[in-house]
Amino acid sequence: MNAIDKAGGKFANLSCGDKQTTMPVRSGTIGPDVMDIGKVYANTGMFTYDPGFTSTANCSSKITYIDGDEGVLLYRGYPIEQLAKQSSHLEACYLLLHGELPTAAQFEEFRSIVTRHTMVHEQMTRFFTGFRRDAHPMAIMCGSVGALSAFYHDSTDIHDPKQRMIASHRLIAKMPTLAAMAFKYSVGQPFIYPRNDLDYASNFMQMCFAVPCEPYHVNPVLARALDRIFILHADHEQNASTSTVRLAGSSGANPFACIAAGIACLWGPAHGGANEAALKMLEEIGDVKNIKGFVARAKDKNSGQRLMGFGHRVYKNYDPRAKVMQETCYEVLKTLGIKDPLLDVAMELEQIALHDEYFIEKKLYPNVDFYSGIVLRALGFPTSMFTVLFAVARTAGWIAQWKEMVEDPEQKIGRPRQLYVGAPKREYTDVAMRV
Ligand code: CMC
Repeated sequence: MNAIDKAGGKFANLSCGDKQTTMPVRSGTIGPDVMDIGKVYANTGMFTYDPGFTSTANCSSKITYIDGDEGVLLYRGYPIEQLAKQSSHLEACYLLLHGELPTAAQFEEFRSIVTRHTMVHEQMTRFFTGFRRDAHPMAIMCGSVGALSAFYHDSTDIHDPKQRMIASHRLIAKMPTLAAMAFKYSVGQPFIYPRNDLDYASNFMQMCFAVPCEPYHVNPVLARALDRIFILHADHEQNASTSTVRLAGSSGANPFACIAAGIACLWGPAHGGANEAALKMLEEIGDVKNIKGFVARAKDKNSGQRLMGFGHRVYKNYDPRAKVMQETCYEVLKTLGIKDPLLDVAMELEQIALHDEYFIEKKLYPNVDFYSGIVLRALGFPTSMFTVLFAVARTAGWIAQWKEMVEDPEQKIGRPRQLYVGAPKREYTDVAMRV
């Protein structure tokens, strides 16, 4: 229950048996208020219980705002639709990291710094060859990004703001290089060095698709589409991988190790792996005539099947990123002159699900991953690279959130409590006595 205390601030009261506690209520600039439960254990002897953090804010943040009911996503206050259409990924990186859009001079300086950090230590190439050729590129990403901390000792002191910034620049710059190396390694082609005359997305495309024996020309429409995909995935407030980065960083771990932890979390099919899973699902459905049966199975809990690319923990409305992604999908297929039957399956599936009582009642709408697989496949990426591309984009958000956490005076090591349901204290018995 909320009330206004004498000082004009809000507070909430909680009664637990014969114990009472008063919790300060904090307000953000927009969005719901939060009850500060930091003293609940001290005052009542009870913990709060919230698996999956469905009602728990773990930090205050100025970076990204989501209104899941209205389908709103803002980076530093700017709507995602405007950024996706008018900005560039590198500008979005600056915005997430610094809090404001750059002036022309600030952007030029940032672009030049990031561009000059795109190469990785040459010894990294030998590190790569230690992986099996058939390793999943996300496995290679976990290992190689973590390994950056062994190569760049001059940017691992988290207490030095300069080193924090250098680490941020390095991560934004080197992630595409490592991702492209992971791709090239999996297809048995030579690594392609970054080209500093190209923009962020074009450079990534040439590192992935160029070969040393012939010239490679980046299609600007496709590069722009990829850049837009990067913007759409750049941050999403306290999602699982970002919270993982924050939790890892809360112990004082170096930024490269924290981002590697985020990559590991992103890999799961309920998070970043969903675009790969969504495309596999569309392939499995194969034809519009099979949709009805598939939707029926997705509604049956015993089938263990879900409609991948549908539903979101926060969005209970159309994911605003999905709209832009759908437009990008049409644009890319048109530019390439591709008639992809999977797009027909996706559009029909979307329509059926949007009108189905089960999905309406549970507020399950298409999320960003529903269309991204079709676009990425058309751009030439194999499904195993989809989550890697997500990781390249999300690095901007991870590092901005990590930096914000390190600089937050309220920051503490993240250490959740638990409800213990195991055996009570008991005496050790010798093996001969056990039955
Ligand atoms: N298909 C069928 N039923 C679903 C689906 C789905 N895709 N998603 C949720 N449900 C049902 C679920 O069975 C449950 O039903 P009930 O209330 O009867 O038990 C109800 O909806 C709520 O589901 P939940 O798992 O409790 O919801 P959550 O908020 O924990 O999960 C989610 C969110 C994204 C993990 C889930 O919707 C899902 O698994 N979606 C498919 C995977 C996917 O597309 N993930 C990408 C998320 S967007 C990219 C990103 O940000 O990483």
